[in-house]
Amino acid sequence: MMSLAARYTSTDWMRREQEGLWPRAWLLVGLSLDVARPGQRMRFDIGTESLIVARDAAGVLRAFFNVCPHRGHRLCSERLGHGRLRCPYHHWQFALSGKLHARPDSDHFTARPDLTPIRCAEAAGLVWVCMDAQAPPLVEWLGPVLSWLLPYQAEAMSLTDEVTLPTAANWKLTLDANNEHYHLHTIHPQLLDMIDDTAVTTERASPHGRMCVPVGVASQRRGGEPAGPERSAAQRIRLKGQGIDVSGLSDAQLVENQMLYVFPNLQLNCYPDRLQIFRHRPHASDPARGYFDRIVLTASADAVPRRKTRHRLLDAKTGSLGAVIDADLVAVRSVQRGLSSRGFQGPCLGASESLIAMMHDVLTEWLG
Ligand code: FES
Ligand SMILES: [Fe+2]
Repeated sequence: MMSLAARYTSTDWMRREQEGLWPRAWLLVGLSLDVARPGQRMRFDIGTESLIVARDAAGVLRAFFNVCPHRGHRLCSERLGHGRLRCPYHHWQFALSGKLHARPDSDHFTARPDLTPIRCAEAAGLVWVCMDAQAPPLVEWLGPVLSWLLPYQAEAMSLTDEVTLPTAANWKLTLDANNEHYHLHTIHPQLLDMIDDTAVTTERASPHGRMCVPVGVASQRRGGEPAGPERSAAQRIRLKGQGIDVSGLSDAQLVENQMLYVFPNLQLNCYPDRLQIFRHRPHASDPARGYFDRIVLTASADAVPRRKTRHRLLDAKTGSLGAVIDADLVAVRSVQRGLSSRGFQGPCLGASESLIAMMHDVLTEWLG
């Protein structure tokens, strides 16, 4: 078995993920609000693959590999677009049903290939794809995650921020940094006035999991005390006053952040009035690089959820995601280098890092 450290550094392991992980799991592509109307489409890149999700003229959501069946040119370069796809190379055109619509000198050809479809589905206002015909349906795959997520009504939220930061770290390292709370008091001490890191609960629902983090109270390391029921009641009144429907949330959910980990590369940070999505994507060829996507949805009294901002691609060297995440990135860059040391024996994981251990157990099961 390959060492856990090598899973973050070796191109051999990266290839195993390309062949046995990304094509087998359900992956979050984007938001339903971006493909709500017929003709809308979006592109999604994961490692060496690029995919397209589109709402066809009949209103059916479809997904395809982003590759032209003529000679293999990438069909679509826009993140978000509208209408028929036209390959830049020889101008073959495809309807969003995936059917070849037109091509120059069509009578020169005997075959009429269409786009190669893949599975797609929506849940909680999010769009997902899976390249594996044998995988279970999305709802079954998500299992308890869906019941944890649904009360927040993400499908009614609007998009208020969407950024991608290229990182000098394997995708699993930025994931790990957000799958444990052990480092909160060490590298994010400023958070201890508003997070009780001593009262976090971690639950495994393999391959997924969650952490429930009390927010709005000081850490017991700082003399804070657990919130009483009056704080939940006050939150409920405040959010209702803003026109936000929190009727599905429990008293505990009103005063905590539920971090839902969806195997392999997704974290849904649920708050009563917003959803902060972290997605960690692999680089196409370098295991020591990755992409960190942060997508923020905010509850509002809007009748229809809307995209209120455009995607931003940050500069790998100068881009910032705020003091907290920047501190994580400094740490993971150092860990990326340390994992290659001959002197490193592999991670020594404690109870508060159990989601990291679980992820590796699942990877062992899937990839050996
Ligand atoms: S490769 Fe797309 S039209 Fe030729
Ligand atoms: Fe952190």
